Amino acid sequence: MLDTTKFYVTTPIYYVNDKPHIGHAYTTILGDVLARYHRLLRVPTFYLTGTDEHGQKVFEAARRNQIHPREQCDRTVVRFQELWRKLEITHDDFIRTTEPRHSEVVRKIMSRLYQEGQIYPADYEGWYCVGCERFFLEKDLEREKCPACDKPVERLVERNYFFRMSAYQDWLIKYIEEHPEFIQPSHRRQETLGFLRSPLNDLCISRPKTRMSWGIELPFDQDYVTYVWFDALVNYISAVGYLADEEKFSKWWPASCHLIGKDILTTHTVYWPIMLKAMGVEMPRAIFAHGWWLVGRDKMSKSRGNVVNPMAIAEDYGVDPFRYFLMAEMSLGQDACFTEEDFFARYNADLANDLGNLASRVTRMIERHLDGALPGSLNSGDAERDLIGACRAAVGGMKENLADMRIERGLAEVMAAVREGNRYFEQNAPWQMAKAGDWEGVRRVLANAAECLRIVSGLLFPVMPGKMAELRQSFGLGEDAARPDIEKLAVWGADWRERQARPVANLFPRIDVEAERKKIARKRDAGSSPEG
Ligand code: ME8
Ligand code: MG
Repeated sequence: MLDTTKFYVTTPIYYVNDKPHIGHAYTTILGDVLARYHRLLRVPTFYLTGTDEHGQKVFEAARRNQIHPREQCDRTVVRFQELWRKLEITHDDFIRTTEPRHSEVVRKIMSRLYQEGQIYPADYEGWYCVGCERFFLEKDLEREKCPACDKPVERLVERNYFFRMSAYQDWLIKYIEEHPEFIQPSHRRQETLGFLRSPLNDLCISRPKTRMSWGIELPFDQDYVTYVWFDALVNYISAVGYLADEEKFSKWWPASCHLIGKDILTTHTVYWPIMLKAMGVEMPRAIFAHGWWLVGRDKMSKSRGNVVNPMAIAEDYGVDPFRYFLMAEMSLGQDACFTEEDFFARYNADLANDLGNLASRVTRMIERHLDGALPGSLNSGDAERDLIGACRAAVGGMKENLADMRIERGLAEVMAAVREGNRYFEQNAPWQMAKAGDWEGVRRVLANAAECLRIVSGLLFPVMPGKMAELRQSFGLGEDAARPDIEKLAVWGADWRERQARPVANLFPRIDVEAERKKIARKRDAGSSPEG
């Protein structure tokens, strides 16, 4: 996903019925990484996330907790906000659907569509489970009973409001066919097209307050609230000023990319485009559905008790390694498994051995042999050819892979440059040069190794902002440390000057896997989940 004029990226807005888990953390970190790469590429960027606070799920959670839904929202939203702070998420806005800036836009949209006849009242007939307070279609029943609780259901007729979604089916199919980038990856596009092979029904967009009152009241009928998805999807435009701040809206809309999990593909690739079309609003550039994080081989779920707590992993092993692992481990678009063993293995190989090792050896030698001063000139020649080539390939590879949403491949190219840095260091053995009194050689090798680290740390900064800023500081990069810029990363020796360096001893301390295994086993025996 590479936009060169401006980049507006969104995550789903998460339900506040429960605390965040690794899946929420993943999408939000992915959005952050895309946003940070675009900033590195000097593209004006807007990153939006937020919370979905209305509807049945939140209403029921509040009832379970015996509190008002508003209280449920206020208590849960801080858990998301705290986690994002902790995970160094740099969103530009955080929208809550209970905010007036959002609900007023939803009401305006509803009024218009109602006046235009695109929303109309009709009787809705279906099978209703009183216990679950849910409607089911005939085909969803199991042995003529509620598929959720197995109790008898009753035939119920209820007046509701409907959105003329069916009128746009042919248009949508054509649009998707003519815009191959619109739904990504392509197997998701096929999935949506498959779904559109059956006739679309009009969408019921109201809920009678007598059944569920927690929502935005319909502007034309106070006995009803808005169906949660008709409310939630609007966040992507209400947050950037639709019907409120035209200048802001035209600056950011259309969105470059809506990031979603595959669970909410239909709402985003069928309902949302049709809603926009009905409103006369331009389509987003792309909707990207990533794969699922599984825990071990299983789907993560509360009932299985295997929900990974992202806060605990980040606390135990660091925010940056956690972010790195999530980005490096998942082939974007496919499912991936989360296991502690994989985390330890990747951490030790990529971060402790390759990157951490190079950083500490280079900075320590600069301190010991050059009194912490990097030489005033960078001399590169034949001996540096492979090193320079690997760094250049990393810069190009990162950009290309970003365009194709292959973050994990881009990271692999950067890690290849890190390994080339280690090879260069080994081959040229500056410690032997020092012994032989070849100070010119020592300066040359340390300066070039430092230059490699400047470039790879810049390319890894969007994924590991804390540790990479620390590493870049240790090379005296000053303000540039936390603001890497493509123009400087793309040029070997860009901006080279005499700089003061200081050692980074333990950027990524090695994980003692045996000891960690024992710790996890102890926690398991104590009955708590391994993630704390
Ligand atoms: O669906 N692996 O909110 P939600 C990867 N409010 N990603 C996962 C995941 C997993 N195991 N589990 C969850 C909603 N996610 C609506 C969205 S948008 C207008 C309204 C991520 O709290 C993934 O991004 O159920 C998924 O789409 C989202 O969390 C669902 O979050
Ligand atoms: Mg969900």
